[in-house]
Amino acid sequence: MQLIEGEKDQILAIVGEVLKNSPKQREDLIPLLQKVQAKLGYLPALAMEKIADGLNIPAADVYGLATFYNQFRLNPPGKHQVKVCLGTACYMVGGDITLESFERRMEIKEGETSPDRLYSLERVACVGCCTMAPVAVVDEEVEGKVTPTRVDGIMLALQDEEKKNEKELKSNQEEGEDA
Ligand code: FES
Repeated sequence: MQLIEGEKDQILAIVGEVLKNSPKQREDLIPLLQKVQAKLGYLPALAMEKIADGLNIPAADVYGLATFYNQFRLNPPGKHQVKVCLGTACYMVGGDITLESFERRMEIKEGETSPDRLYSLERVACVGCCTMAPVAVVDEEVEGKVTPTRVDGIMLALQDEEKKNEKELKSNQEEGEDA
């Protein structure tokens, strides 16, 4: 995933600070990764390289460990985060079709974030609302009976919200220029 403006400096500063204040043995790798992810929201490749340099170990070792544990995310969280439940009850009534529908509408795969960072998509285990299966959690709101048509509705609502935000931002900027 490409870094956005200013992100490189932010990553270097955060990794530098974490490394400065932490022990730097190979066995400290997991807590180090956790600290960096807590601050950045994810583990960019650049952060993993810098951590590897700091610990004097190969970057491939850091990457291998980060991909092994699913507590680590390698893509930035999208502004809108969609989690599709693939627990048994949801799977039995087409949770996988729900996931595929989101993948198609967002033009990304599960586990990814759209290049504009507006949307990210994940699969999750049972979220405890099986009677509403198939379930998706959209920006922390639980949505039930998420058929492909409902996916279209959810995506349209999110896109509308984004258009509104953009319009507001533009008019605020214009007001600022006029003042
Ligand atoms: S299996 Fe999806 S909410 Fe329980």
